[in-house]
Amino acid sequence: MKGIVFTKFLEMVEQTNGYDQVDSLLLTTDLPSGGTYTAAGTYDHQEMVGLVANLSQATHRSASDILREYGRYLFQTFVNTYHPFLEVAPDAFTFLSSVDAYIHVEVKKLYPEAELPNFTITRLDGSTLQMIYQSSRKMADLAYGLIEGTLAYYGEIAKIEQQALSPDGSRVKFLIIKANHL
Ligand code: HEM
Repeated sequence: MKGIVFTKFLEMVEQTNGYDQVDSLLLTTDLPSGGTYTAAGTYDHQEMVGLVANLSQATHRSASDILREYGRYLFQTFVNTYHPFLEVAPDAFTFLSSVDAYIHVEVKKLYPEAELPNFTITRLDGSTLQMIYQSSRKMADLAYGLIEGTLAYYGEIAKIEQQALSPDGSRVKFLIIKANHL
């Protein structure tokens, strides 16, 4: 997993819970890398799982909640760093429809070692987008937060339904339903 996913996560924790929380998180989590992440480095995805689990314990919030919040936060980072990807899409559905076939493809060209999920994306009708997430990293809650971030960026209101398609969380269906059709 790319270092930016770790550095931005710790930045979010520092902003919301203060540096002491970051410090104790790094001390209490088993981190083979030592926890000194650089944005360009690559680290074991299990370290992220450990950090989220320990933050969940320390703050009495579910891991799902934390990952969703982090998805919204991370999207803000993408807005600043990867603005060209957003500029070419006029609305949230167009943008989300391009994640698998365009955005993550470009990310993979920039960082060949990036571990990205697969999405099967279908526009069911004018108001409903279906995204089927598949990844051994089981981070569908992060995807949920990134979808929320996308909707907020475009100023669109939609309901997001999340349904597990496999018991281990590696396959998850999202239905994004625009507000005027709720
Ligand atoms: C400008 C837009 C985007 C950029 C630049 C981007 C880039 C990235 C990068 C760099 C990673 C980390 C890969 C690694 O750690 O090895 C990642 C992971 C991920 N991305 Fe994107 N992404 C974008 C939009 C989205 C959106 C809108 C979604 C959801 C609909 C999404 C879903 C995910 C998920 C769930 C992961 C975690 C890895 C996994 O589950 O296997 N991304 N993305």
